[in-house]
Amino acid sequence: MQKRSGILVAICLWLSVRKSLALLPNESDIIDKCILNYGGLTPETAERLGRFKDWSVDYEEIPCFTRCYLADMFDFYNNSTGFDKDAVVKVFGEPVYNACQKKLELPESELSSCQHAYEGFHCITNLENHPFTVIDNMANISQSAKTAMKECLQDVDQAKWKSFAAYGDYPVIEPIPCYTRCFLDKLHLFDQKTRLWKVGAMRQHLGVPAKGAVIRSCHLQRGKDRCATYYKQFTCHALAA
Ligand SMILES: *[C@@H]1O[C@H](CO)[C@@H](O)[C@H](O)[C@H]1NC(C)=O
Ligand SMILES: *[C@@H]1O[C@H](CO)[C@@H](O)[C@H](O)[C@H]1NC(C)=O
Ligand SMILES: *[C@@H]1O[C@H](CO)[C@@H](O)[C@H](O)[C@H]1NC(C)=O
Ligand SMILES: *[C@@H]1O[C@H](CO)[C@@H](O)[C@H](O)[C@H]1NC(C)=O
Repeated sequence: MQKRSGILVAICLWLSVRKSLALLPNESDIIDKCILNYGGLTPETAERLGRFKDWSVDYEEIPCFTRCYLADMFDFYNNSTGFDKDAVVKVFGEPVYNACQKKLELPESELSSCQHAYEGFHCITNLENHPFTVIDNMANISQSAKTAMKECLQDVDQAKWKSFAAYGDYPVIEPIPCYTRCFLDKLHLFDQKTRLWKVGAMRQHLGVPAKGAVIRSCHLQRGKDRCATYYKQFTCHALAA
């Protein structure tokens, strides 16, 4: 079983494929073979593959590429029987499988086709970094925290959703302004009377701060406005050791 990073490398970083050593063994050979009928690996076909995620949901721009690629590359797809549920769950997580289930499952006694392989995998690659999927896969986060995070995202313009992944790096400026304040308020983690964070509840819902972490000075941090202050103080709790 190949690791998920391989697929991301394959699809996302396609343009640098030829130079990249991060590719899975033989991957460029396999891609070359699967694209042979369309001129092989050229700057044009590479550019097209680089936009794989943006292809239409039901039209594969390089016909039958996906089926060939998956069948040769990964254990989670079989040429005739299609996607293996357990294997897909293992590589991409249960939320992704469930969200794409309709496209992944085959009707009784039907065999997989180019269309089936494409639609299923296209769904997976488009969901993998979807904020809701990322939230569902977060460890140590309570169900109400997940719900709050999703609700707050719905108030945000979808064009900003792609910034969600940036939270993982705790940048100085909040990737989606006021998002942190939104979900912390929904969870009532700041006591408006005492002006203090409810650290126990924060740990229960969000898994931070770590037990024994030094957080004494976190509540003193200030940003340029209330949202920025929330974000700074929360980041301080999350990163405290
Ligand atoms: C890569 O291809 C070579 C020959 O084409 C083959 O011997 C080798 O087993 C392949 N490696 C993998 C990981 O498939
Ligand atoms: C997939 O099926 C095609 C024919 O439908 C066959 O030519 C090809 O070798 C198969 N690939 C694998 C990996 O089984
Ligand atoms: C795909 O599944 C069929 C039926 O279970 C099996 O005979 C075949 O060997 C599988 N193909 C590969 C490439 O594993
Ligand atoms: C989740 O919590 C467990 C036990 O409390 C801990 O061992 C683990 O490192 C935590 N995982 C993350 C991603 O924080």
